Amino acid sequence: MQNKTIEIVPMQASDIEKAVALISLAMNEDEGKWASETMHFHFKCAAQGLDDGHDYYLWWKDAELMGIVGLHHYAWGPPENVWLAWFAVAPAEQGKGYGKALLSEVEQKARQRGFRKFFVETYEHPDFEKAIRFYQKQGFTEHGRIANYLADGSQMLVLGKTL
Ligand SMILES: CC(C)(COP(=O)(O)OP(=O)(O)OC[C@H]1O[C@@H](n2cnc3c(N)ncnc32)[C@H](O)[C@@H]1OP(=O)(O)O)[C@@H](O)C(=O)NCCC(=O)NCCS
Repeated sequence: MQNKTIEIVPMQASDIEKAVALISLAMNEDEGKWASETMHFHFKCAAQGLDDGHDYYLWWKDAELMGIVGLHHYAWGPPENVWLAWFAVAPAEQGKGYGKALLSEVEQKARQRGFRKFFVETYEHPDFEKAIRFYQKQGFTEHGRIANYLADGSQMLVLGKTL
């Protein structure tokens, strides 16, 4: 597949509804609910001049939201560690190389900010099977598991790579 180039722009508070709709559609309703809580918290912090360590970027095509990606840096964690934040491509655009392009854009931003260890939190659950195969193809390897993490008993899977 030919490498795609896309432009990502910082998310605004006014984009929350669309971003949550995309995440609910691409993942599931629970993830949409948690994304909404994370994003509202992030923009409330930003309005107060507080940095919660979260950054979100959107990919738009003809005013339609096509993708979201971002970084979560835990304020209490080592400065070189960062986690992939909410990440999704609109279902109609999946499998065309855009997920890879979004990941590549955000990895570049992470490297520029001095992050060197990149982690992903995902789950051993049918809704995330595609994502796990995608991450493995992008060079992520398994770093750990937490049993019985989701309410349905699914494991949390931590993947990682060096930037
Ligand atoms: C995960 C996701 C963002 C990937 O985006 P995408 O646009 O579908 O992926 P791409 O088309 O860029 O695929 C890039 C590469 O991964 C491979 N890949 C993608 N999906 C795959 C799958 N289901 N099985 C095997 N390989 C896969 C592609 O073949 C491609 O390989 P190449 O680099 O050799 O050409 C997208 O599937 C998605 O939005 N899923 C739902 C949301 C989600 O689960 N997010 C992650 C939560 S942790």
